[in-house]
Amino acid sequence: MTLVAPSILSADIAHLADVVQNVCAAGADLIHIDVMDGHFVPNLTFGPLLVKAIKPYSSIPLDVHLMMTNPQDFLEDFINAGSDQITLHAEVEQDIIPMLKFLRSKGIKTGLSLKPRTPASVLETYLPYLDLVLVMTVEPGFGGQDFLITQLPKISLIKTMTEASGINIQVDGGINDKSAPLCVENGASTLISGSYIFNSSDWSKTIQLLQKAGTSSF
Ligand code: DX5
Ligand code: ZN
Repeated sequence: MTLVAPSILSADIAHLADVVQNVCAAGADLIHIDVMDGHFVPNLTFGPLLVKAIKPYSSIPLDVHLMMTNPQDFLEDFINAGSDQITLHAEVEQDIIPMLKFLRSKGIKTGLSLKPRTPASVLETYLPYLDLVLVMTVEPGFGGQDFLITQLPKISLIKTMTEASGINIQVDGGINDKSAPLCVENGASTLISGSYIFNSSDWSKTIQLLQKAGTSSF
């Protein structure tokens, strides 16, 4: 089954402890936390303090997406805060392989994310160090944007590149009942979804629907 990671960017931030407990009870597989530094992307959101604050309320892994220029300076803080998997961006200018090695040495699952205009080929040198690849299906920075259908061939190419390694492919941005099956058919194994889940009246139903994306019972 496809894994579903609600992105708390679109949740009621004033009641995050309840949100986290509720999505766990609703059957979510991971909690997705978008870290934005106002520099790598034009928006400012959460830091290690928030990861630490919600950790006790979560019974599922915390999936931390670092949209920041200098992730290296904060890796230790995000690890100590309770992150279970950490995704960096391939476009950062800091040295990526040492960061991935460091994360693995601390028992953290490693991810690398590609912005829509970054080609799949940049992944090649990093594949041995990765547990997951995150394909951005919107320009990173904000929830609630439209899915970029142009990213489907990239998902499929990454699926082929990672076939032998068991690397998980996440998609992030504009995921809903229309885009989810397309992503899964092209090779995505985790759907990150913010506004579609949190704007729905029944989170549990919406999460379960997304988990079935790409199957005959969808
Ligand atoms: C965007 C973030 C996403 C965002 C997705 O930069 O990485 O995780 O929360 O939100 P939706 O599902 O509303 O597009
Ligand atoms: Zn994200």
